[in-house]
Amino acid sequence: MKKVLIIVAGLLLPAIGWSAGGGHTYPDDKIEIDWNDKAAMQRGARTFVNYCLSCHAASYSRFNRVGQDLGIPDDLVLENLIFTTDVNGDKTKVGALMTTTMTPEYAEQAFGIVPPDLSLIARSRGVNWVYNYLRGFYVDESRDGLGVNNGVFANVGMPHVLAELQGLQRPKYQTQTDSHGNEQEIIVGYEILKAGSMTKSEYDRTIHDLVAFLDYLAEPYKQTRKNVGTGVIIFLFVFLILSYVLKKEYWKDVH
Ligand code: HEC
Repeated sequence: MKKVLIIVAGLLLPAIGWSAGGGHTYPDDKIEIDWNDKAAMQRGARTFVNYCLSCHAASYSRFNRVGQDLGIPDDLVLENLIFTTDVNGDKTKVGALMTTTMTPEYAEQAFGIVPPDLSLIARSRGVNWVYNYLRGFYVDESRDGLGVNNGVFANVGMPHVLAELQGLQRPKYQTQTDSHGNEQEIIVGYEILKAGSMTKSEYDRTIHDLVAFLDYLAEPYKQTRKNVGTGVIIFLFVFLILSYVLKKEYWKDVH
């Protein structure tokens, strides 16, 4: 009997964890990434190196490769995207990988967790998730040190590094009864506590562009792949017409 109970508990546990984790998140918006909008990705790259690269690496990418793909010449990459020095104290080279200067030991001490590499985040989490996450920070005094929580990632370990742009917001709650009849407080909106340097639509745009850059980063070949795909279809179509004409030519005398 005991054994059976343990097995049943083992089967149920993941389900409980799932329902607790996969609950209501806010915000829950969707975005479209325009793969031809290089200007948006360039702006996103700038936000990324200014606000994210100090803690998170994107160590599958090189600065100059990003420059080439997004149409930024090397000298402008050096000037606008690289603010770090290498181990010898020289300015980081344009061909260097986009690593972070923060050591994992330091990060572990400061945040209790090492900030993950963001190279593939747009694929692993999806662009909508990242978009909502970066707009989901809210003031929560109960969280020592950080002072913020997140409507998409509960009890997150990351500080609200874009607070100067977005400002600070406080959640509006609503009581909801879930399918099991339990009442729970869910976040249904935010109100501004302290204004940032940007309006809401400017901030949303900035995050959209940042996510566009992260989406590019996660799949630098997507654009080329799409172009090659179109080329192949056109080639096959032309080939089809040619073979048809040829077939007619060959069989002309037989019939
Ligand atoms: C001060 C250091 C710091 C900065 C700067 C920072 N982050 Fe973070 N970030 C963290 C930490 C720490 C975590 C891990 C949080 C956790 O797991 O609780 C994290 C987690 C994340 C996650 C969730 C990863 C996952 O799937 O678990 C994303 C996405 C993210 N950061 C994006 C960004 C972006 C984009 C920027 C720039 C706007 C940025 N971060 C700037 C420290 C930082």
